[in-house]
Amino acid sequence: MFEHLKAQKPDAILTLMQMYRDDPRDQKVDLGVGVYKNAAGVTPVMRAIKAAEERLWQTQESKSYVGLAGDPAFNDAMIRLVLGDAVARGDVSSVATPGGTGAVRQAFELIKMTNPDARVFVSNPTWPNHLSILDYLGMDMVPYRYFDTETRGVDFDGMIADIKGARKGDVVLLHGCCHNPTGANLTLPQWQEVIAVLLDTGATPMIDIAYQGFGDGVEADAAGTRAVAVAVPECLIAASCSKNFGIYRERTGVLMLVARGGDKAVRQGTLAFLNRQNYSFPPDHGARLVTMILEDDALRTDWLAELEEMRVGMLSLREQLAKELEQRSGSNRFGFIAEHRGMFSRLGTTPELVQKMREDHGIYMVGDSRMNIAGLNEASVPVLAEAIVAAGV
Ligand code: LMR
Repeated sequence: MFEHLKAQKPDAILTLMQMYRDDPRDQKVDLGVGVYKNAAGVTPVMRAIKAAEERLWQTQESKSYVGLAGDPAFNDAMIRLVLGDAVARGDVSSVATPGGTGAVRQAFELIKMTNPDARVFVSNPTWPNHLSILDYLGMDMVPYRYFDTETRGVDFDGMIADIKGARKGDVVLLHGCCHNPTGANLTLPQWQEVIAVLLDTGATPMIDIAYQGFGDGVEADAAGTRAVAVAVPECLIAASCSKNFGIYRERTGVLMLVARGGDKAVRQGTLAFLNRQNYSFPPDHGARLVTMILEDDALRTDWLAELEEMRVGMLSLREQLAKELEQRSGSNRFGFIAEHRGMFSRLGTTPELVQKMREDHGIYMVGDSRMNIAGLNEASVPVLAEAIVAAGV
C-alpha cells in the first residue's frame, strides 16, 4: 500500500539547514533555522539547565509515568511565567506538550474538535509550520495583512481591517512577541486595538509565544499575551521553552486554555484526552528542568541573567548591522533592523536576491528573506552587510 505515498513538500527552513551543512565553503553564514547561537556559533546549554540536570541526575529516583497533563508543578510554573498574576490560576486549564509545536498542534486539534467550521486567521506571513499543520488537519485559514513591505513594520491598518472579518467561532492566531518570520511587533496600544476587535467580533484569540525573553525582556514580551488573556472571555496560548531555556531537542512546551465559568474539569479533561490520543504522556525531562529553575531563586536568577545576555547580544548585533548597512548603502533604509525585535528580521527582498547572496557570499537566509540575527557575530556582520548591498537589496 505504501507505493501510493506521495512525496511531501519539504520544509523550507529544514531544507536550508541541510544545504548549509552541505556547503563546503569556509566562508559561510547560517542565518536559517531559529536557533540561538553565541559569538562562537555554538548553541550553548544554559548554565541553569546544566546545574538543574546535575541536581536531577542526583535526586531523581524514578522515570515512571507522570500524568497526561504533565507535572502539575510545571504547568503552574509556566502559567506564572507567561501570565504572571494577570489571570486567576483557576481560570487556566493546561497540559505539557512536546515543544511549542506540540502545543500549536494540540490547540488546532482542540479548535477543530470544538468547531469543525472554524476559520483560523493567520498573519501574512506567519511561521510556515502554522500553515502546514492547518493544511494537514484540513482546517480553513484566512490570511490577514501584517507586514508592510515598504516600512518593514506592521501594516496595522491592514491587520485590523482583515481581522474584523472574523466571527464568533473563528480563531485569530497572534504571535505573543518576536514575530516569526518578520521581527515586526505590535505595540501595547496596538494590542489593545486588536483586543477591541476580538471583543467586537467574538472571535477567539490563540497566541503562539515561542520567544519570551528574546525581545524586550521576559515580562515585557508577555505583556500583549497578558492583556489579551485578561480582556477576552477565552483564549488559547501555546508557549515554548525551546528557545528561552535553550532546550530545543528536549521538546518542552505547554498549551493553556483560559476560560471563565463553565465546566473547567471538562476543559482540562479534553486537553488531557488530546494528549492521550496523540502521544499519551508528554516528555518530562525538559519540563522538570524548567520547573526546577523557575522554583529555585538562585537558578532562576542565573537563568534570567543568561537570557538577558542573549537578548542584549542580539540587540547589539541588530544595531551593528543597521549601522554597517547605513555606512555601506549611504542611506538609512535598513534602520528597521534595529527596530525589529526577537531572533528574526525579514529583510523584505526577493527569493532571487536571497539566492544570489547565498551563491555569491555564502549567506544562508530563508527564501522569504528571514534572517536569524543570532546567527551573526562581529566578524560576519560586515560580510552580510556587504552581501546585502552588493546584491542591490
Ligand atoms: C524556526 O522558525 O526556525 C524555528 O521555530 C524552528 C522550526 O521548527 O521551524
